[in-house]
Amino acid sequence: MRAHTSDGSAGDADYGAIGVAYARYRRPEPRITALIEQALEGARTVVNVGAGAGSYESPRFTITPVEPSASMRAQRPAHLAEAVDGVAERLPFDDDAFDAAMTTFSVHQWPDLAAGLREMRRVARGPVAVLTCDPDRVRGFWLYEYAPAVLDTEARRYPAIDDIVAVLGGRADVRTVPIPADCVDGFNEAYYARPEMLLDPAARQSCSAWSFVEPALAERYTDRLRAALDSGAWDDRYGRLRHQSELHGSLVLIRALP
Ligand SMILES: C[S@@+](CC[C@H](N)C(=O)[O-])C[C@H]1O[C@@H](n2cnc3c(N)ncnc32)[C@H](O)[C@@H]1O
Repeated sequence: MRAHTSDGSAGDADYGAIGVAYARYRRPEPRITALIEQALEGARTVVNVGAGAGSYESPRFTITPVEPSASMRAQRPAHLAEAVDGVAERLPFDDDAFDAAMTTFSVHQWPDLAAGLREMRRVARGPVAVLTCDPDRVRGFWLYEYAPAVLDTEARRYPAIDDIVAVLGGRADVRTVPIPADCVDGFNEAYYARPEMLLDPAARQSCSAWSFVEPALAERYTDRLRAALDSGAWDDRYGRLRHQSELHGSLVLIRALP
């Protein structure tokens, strides 16, 4: 089940290699945290699967984080709970051990999505919240024009929302998560109004899809975007986005009740 790298990364991305700057560029966005808090309303204990460096772990809950990558566990700030070394597909907890379960930006990396979701459902008495991207909407982002293979990779990796909902069962609602223009969690769409950010190698490195394209191709994509920004072509086509306060892109929050 675990695709062992020296780091212990269990998904398709090696966080030993790409996770070093992660905590700096992928900070939890407070407006997204608020939506997750709403989704988990009423819970006290919450398991966070694929917890990474602790993004979206609200102090409102007693969180038990689970994270297979050593470099991600090491980036967790001291005020957060230490993460259990484990994988979604085999959670080391009893049935109904928690009031709720959450996972953010992680399901697309699990080798066995259905097993991981079933485990979340098994260990949570109440809501399961999944923050992820809708693969059908990924290519709608302007970056597709400049870096198509990056978003093709992204669209291939993200599981269909219907599949997630079907495995979780029960009653589910799916809502689009508005992405604020100054979003502090640096996933690709977070830079919809700040395209220059994607010229920063560390910002790209913190979005794992970039690690799946050859460095030479990523370089060409970046050059293409830089040229479009220098010439004003990007602003001619998309400049209005610089003044748009939020984007309804591919980010979604699924909340499933038993
Ligand atoms: C993009 S990061 C997201 C981290 C954090 N949840 C966040 O929102 O910043 C994806 C995380 O999923 C973890 N992961 C990958 N495969 C996993 C698996 N099979 N079980 C649990 N976690 C996994 C990775 O190690 C990584 O920390």
